[in-house]
Amino acid sequence: MIITGKYPNLRLRRNRKSDWTRRLVQENNLSVNDLILPIFVIDGKNKKESIKTMPGVYRYSIDKLPLIIDRAVKSKIPLVAIFPYTNSKLKNNFGHEALNESNLVCRAIRLIKKKYKNKIGIMCDVALDPYTSHGHDGLLSKGKILNDETVNILIKQSLLQAEMGCDVIAPSDMMDGRIGKIRKALDKKNFQDVQILSYAAKYASSFYGPFRDAVGSKNLLKGDKKTYQMDFSNNQEALREIALDIKEGADMVMVKPGMPYLDIIKSVKENFKIPVFAYQVSGEYSLIKNGINKKIINENSIIESLMSFKRAGASAIVTYFADKIANTLR
Ligand code: PBG
Repeated sequence: MIITGKYPNLRLRRNRKSDWTRRLVQENNLSVNDLILPIFVIDGKNKKESIKTMPGVYRYSIDKLPLIIDRAVKSKIPLVAIFPYTNSKLKNNFGHEALNESNLVCRAIRLIKKKYKNKIGIMCDVALDPYTSHGHDGLLSKGKILNDETVNILIKQSLLQAEMGCDVIAPSDMMDGRIGKIRKALDKKNFQDVQILSYAAKYASSFYGPFRDAVGSKNLLKGDKKTYQMDFSNNQEALREIALDIKEGADMVMVKPGMPYLDIIKSVKENFKIPVFAYQVSGEYSLIKNGINKKIINENSIIESLMSFKRAGASAIVTYFADKIANTLR
């Protein structure tokens, strides 16, 4: 970069002297169109249940979903992501509940589509971890996660969600080859319009802790997810993962977690012409939220954290702050 001019005739502070000029030269912008709101659902009636590790985030019973969806629609949040807290009695080694058409996710999709039509998009995770008694995203056999056998179930899970009316299928399992197979299966059943958002670069991260608490898989998880989720020391490998998923038919790709992986978002953006999304995960949310609650940092930290994703090149951000800041942004 060539810098023309030199102090004292060059003073970069001039462009920052007032609010109006700062707005004028602002390089990035965060709007409600950039936000995806994750929502946890739970069995039962009349429930809005708090989650200890995620202050300000709740699990809703299906009948109470309109409490939060109404707000999302009113503030024009484009997309919600549904995550189930599955009763442990419904979990088994194979995650069979994932394929039950009356499971929580299916009931949530049906309700939202019926009540809100196409006013808001629905995204659903494809992975087995909310449903397996061992807490893994895939089938576990003799201490190993089986890839191809898992993919066969994920295909069925995707088709079921598409049938229910899910708009965006989001495989978050990190098995090899699943995007291509899911795309093919969706097309064969005439779901050409159902989008695939691949969690393409998903790292084995400690920042998922509160989420696992929220979906009730925390105490079940045997071992870790390092044989399928990525090693956080790597960046080149993320580009290979992304390239493969694009080739297999992903419409959008996700980098996850968010703030510790801004470098990955940036290099995906520089290397591929595809919308890249960031997931500001549960641990990131809770750290910021607790900091605000304890008055260690102030509320502006939320927008600052989200703007970092825009700077890095993200098209949208999955964030538990979405409903809390949507109106401020509008
Ligand atoms: C499940 C899944 C996880 C998250 C989203 N989908 C957890 C995991 O992989 O263990 C994490 C989201 C968050 O922490 O907010 N495959």
